[in-house]
Amino acid sequence: MSLVSLDQTGRLWALNTRDSTYVIGIEIDQATGEALVLQKYWGPILPPQAAREAAAMSAGPDSPSGAGRHVTSFSRPVEVEELLPVDGGLRWGLPALQVAVDQVRSLELRLVGVDAASGDGVDQLDIALEDRTFPIDVVLHARPYADSNAIARWVTVRHRAGGDAAVEVSRLDSGSWFIPDAEDYRYRAASGAWAEESQLQQGRLPVGELTFTSRQGITGHHANPWIMIDAGDAGEEHGEVWSVALAWSGSWRMTTTRRPEGGTAVTAGFGHDGLRWPLPAGAELVTPAVLGLYSAHGFGGTSRGWHDHIRRHILPAGDEDRPVLYNSWEATGFAVTEPEQLRLARRAATLGVELFVVDDGWFGRRDDEHSSLGDWWPHGERFPDGLQGLFEGVRALGMKAGLWVEPEGVSPDSDLYRAHPDWTLHLDHRRRDRKRHQLVLNFARTDVRDWALGWLDRLVTDLRLDYLKWDMNRPFTQAGWPGQGQGQDHVWIDHTRHVYQVMARLRARHPGLRIESCAGGGGRLDLGILHHIDQAWPSDNTDPVDRQTAQHGVSQLYPANVMSAWVTDSPNANVGRSTPLRYRFHVAMAGVLGIGVDLARWSAAELDEARALIAQYKMVRRTIQHGRQYRLGGRPGVERSALQYLLDDQVVVLVYHPYGNAKSGRRWLRLTALDPDACYEVVAGGDTDGVPGRLAAGSRWQGRTLMAVGIRPTAWEPIGADHRSDLIVLRTTAGSAPGNAVIRSRGVP
Ligand code: GLA
Repeated sequence: MSLVSLDQTGRLWALNTRDSTYVIGIEIDQATGEALVLQKYWGPILPPQAAREAAAMSAGPDSPSGAGRHVTSFSRPVEVEELLPVDGGLRWGLPALQVAVDQVRSLELRLVGVDAASGDGVDQLDIALEDRTFPIDVVLHARPYADSNAIARWVTVRHRAGGDAAVEVSRLDSGSWFIPDAEDYRYRAASGAWAEESQLQQGRLPVGELTFTSRQGITGHHANPWIMIDAGDAGEEHGEVWSVALAWSGSWRMTTTRRPEGGTAVTAGFGHDGLRWPLPAGAELVTPAVLGLYSAHGFGGTSRGWHDHIRRHILPAGDEDRPVLYNSWEATGFAVTEPEQLRLARRAATLGVELFVVDDGWFGRRDDEHSSLGDWWPHGERFPDGLQGLFEGVRALGMKAGLWVEPEGVSPDSDLYRAHPDWTLHLDHRRRDRKRHQLVLNFARTDVRDWALGWLDRLVTDLRLDYLKWDMNRPFTQAGWPGQGQGQDHVWIDHTRHVYQVMARLRARHPGLRIESCAGGGGRLDLGILHHIDQAWPSDNTDPVDRQTAQHGVSQLYPANVMSAWVTDSPNANVGRSTPLRYRFHVAMAGVLGIGVDLARWSAAELDEARALIAQYKMVRRTIQHGRQYRLGGRPGVERSALQYLLDDQVVVLVYHPYGNAKSGRRWLRLTALDPDACYEVVAGGDTDGVPGRLAAGSRWQGRTLMAVGIRPTAWEPIGADHRSDLIVLRTTAGSAPGNAVIRSRGVP
């Protein structure tokens, strides 16, 4: 049971995940009758009696000590421990729920009841509250996952039928998470920009409020909706980390409050400041989920916890191996034609590519960024006979077929816009500003949603497509729907929901269809979109050195099997840096390998090398895409660094050294999480020059040696060329401690 009632009143609950416990206690304020739903504990797993004791230790709101904090007439610090601090009563912090009824902007919630249920193998706790005066219901939902370490929480707010009040919601978070008391706190998050996404930032959590947000209608390049918090003492593989991530792909806001009198909480939800969502009688708003995950095994353990949860419970086909793909964008840009794409496809097939994706430029009169988004039929001059011939050719070469689309985009120069100017997001009396020469379709409209589903369905059916790269190149501006009057801010929610719906319905109609999310690079990667897609494009910057930094940021939350990674030309089109083919491959192999080069320009030697590297990737991809990832240290792209992946009996190590002449620095690379008693054989990537400490192919090593002493990768020699890399593969030998390594290593978080 992942849900345990801890007392007779049904007001104290332990939510158990595989390794953690989260205790919720509901207290009734004796003076006001108000219900306070409080987080009593979040940390290592506790048996029921200890969970009860943890709750008893935590002082309630009526305690004069206020949970041991400094209480004055100007503060009530316990609000930081509430699961959903509302705007109302004795609270002055950032509200997670703000509702106005007629002119009254405040809530006074009392307890209606608590319901514990089990469905789909997952337990769920629903805590029902209602306003003391107005017909407003608020239900807090929580689901602990017994086979991962995540807890999902979300909220329903309902305006009961029959009322005639004007109800308006101006803030509705999915939930607030309290981080247990510590002397100090540190946060870790990802920020960035276009072509520079997922840059890891870490720092001391300031006293006050720290907000990460997107106001763009998409997840955004500038921040990603997750945060990790530790007490300043966690490392990659040790220490406690509390993390929170929001499953939403539109605008969002995540605010961490560190109170001056102690106590830290993270609240997260959809929308951004300033939006207003009217709620007519009978209507309800259901938030996306916010997930929390506790790990006692540092940032690495936290990342692996998320990877595991995402693969098990979020991705639609999480256990599937992703194919090696080819994408035409960096090779041909908009100039896609059947003969040219088939020439590329023939070369790609000989390399071992399994999926051929035609990017932008195939539709309408799309010769550049200026036109045709919305006109989703084959480009008359480039594909006079349609795209069937091209994709039949692709399939005849033994590859699957994929196509780029941008369903939410519309060019003012398109037949669609000329016919339906009202289909875009827009406001009365305001300009329709263009960005990348385009506007955004209002997917909140059901006619727009149904139109998109219609043409996408036809396209996938007619061309027998296996894969869509779903792009979105334009943040929202002037985001309104004048016909909806006061309710037009709902577009910020419904647009995203309808994008999810179109994806879900397409997948239901075409069970074999796989989808890649892209938004001008890495602008739409989050736990929400991952329910509907298979992989995401992290950045338009494909330079391998820059990419290492971005991939490091992506790996904090997202598993390798969602991270698209292409090998592209050298010098790189974005940054002009030249790098060896092997390095480019080894960086891209850390995710879902793809090829994005003009293959016509590759020499026979390059093609041979690429063929061998693709074959090698196929040998290790199950381990990389589905194994447990260990970041073995070193700042990726800046100094010697390495990644280790572990699955069943196979260990894969990717080793990087961006700058050749680095005389100081690590030489020994200690592996981790192996079975100390097992014997590991080097099956690939070993050197044979006999230098002690090097791994000769075929040599065998004790797990304890590889962990205590380590290996000396060739790429880490102090003097050599820039951009050296190794791929090392080890396997437990059948004779030594058979099976032992598998079982033991599985137990390691
Ligand atoms: C975006 C994507 C690119 C490519 C172009 C096509 O920028 O991130 O990968 O698909 O659009 O216009």
